[in-house]
Amino acid sequence: MPQTILYVDDDLALARLAERHLGRAGYQVIHATDQASAMEAMERGGIDAVVLDHYLKAGTGLDILHRLKDQGSDVPVIYVTGSSDATIAIDALKSGASDYVIKTVGDEFWPLMESAIRQGIATAELRRAQEKAEREIRLGKERAEVLLAEVNHRVANSLALVAALIRLQVSSSRNEDVKAALAETQARITAIAGMHRSLYTSDDVRHVEMDKYLGTLVREVQDTVNDQQRPSIRLEAEPVSLTSDRAVSIGMIVTELLTNALKYAYPTGVEGEVRVFFKRQDEESALLAVEDDGIGWREGDQPKGTGLGSRIVKSMAATLGSTIQYVPNVSGTRAELKVSLT
Ligand SMILES: Nc1ncnc2c1ncn2[C@@H]1O[C@H](COP(=O)(O)OP(=O)(O)OP(=O)(O)O)[C@@H](O)[C@H]1O
Ligand SMILES: [Mg+2]
Repeated sequence: MPQTILYVDDDLALARLAERHLGRAGYQVIHATDQASAMEAMERGGIDAVVLDHYLKAGTGLDILHRLKDQGSDVPVIYVTGSSDATIAIDALKSGASDYVIKTVGDEFWPLMESAIRQGIATAELRRAQEKAEREIRLGKERAEVLLAEVNHRVANSLALVAALIRLQVSSSRNEDVKAALAETQARITAIAGMHRSLYTSDDVRHVEMDKYLGTLVREVQDTVNDQQRPSIRLEAEPVSLTSDRAVSIGMIVTELLTNALKYAYPTGVEGEVRVFFKRQDEESALLAVEDDGIGWREGDQPKGTGLGSRIVKSMAATLGSTIQYVPNVSGTRAELKVSLT
């Protein structure tokens, strides 16, 4: 199908010449003599480029150009001006014309016109293709994020279900050691579920806001420790954003350190507090600390329980490229972990 040019000029002789020259170059030419018929032709559609003459019987080509641009038309416009009208040409370009050609009686007019049309159409096609590609990339990204949120939702729900099954088992077990071990497993699974939940409840499906995540996690750990006069927990966390895999490693570590402090720091009947800090240190790192004012513990002391918690902490710290440090010479226990943010 030939490309169609709308040629707007009130000079009939010139219009016929345009038909001949541009027709020879393979274009179909539609002629309009004024603003009304030009706009009508545009509304019918199928126009690949518009040639606008400046001087019309009523008004100028600029009026038509402005109307086209106001309507959001992206059809390329070639503006035709007289030889002494440099400022008009500039006006036309500023108003969105893709090019201008100076009206001369010489031989070069039609070849110049043709190349302006060809280039205008090519540029417009390129721009449309680019816009389409950008739209598709944006849509693809949005779709992937929706999908990821959906997956996180399902993972969180499934993990919550697993945790609920374990809770049932806790209540049906008569052995206290088994109850305690199952309750810890439940807390561990809940920490992972919480990370996935925080991913689908925020706008960013890849990053976790640590203050919110740790807030939920601390509450959940507190709920799973079934001790009547359990120590109170104070959390001070800054809104640092971390990738989901880093967040879940930190979640696991906090769960272990926190359950330990709740279980071991204070002898039964003694009141106390457990503090969790997550603070940015500089551009590249944050510091996680869990501390209590309890009986104290040093690495290498004989564990009262299974010692599984320490192994989990060690391997999670390694995943983060860091190690857990027990700060010496404090009353109570203080465990620290430097987390790199990049
Ligand atoms: N904050 C703390 N205050 C006092 N003692 C602690 C503290 N944290 C840890 N401990 C001691 O360190 C030991 C090792 O902890 P770890 O988490 O490795 O194992 P666990 O808690 O005994 O077993 P699990 O984590 O599987 O329940 C504990 O048994 C406890 O004796
Ligand atoms: Mg433990």
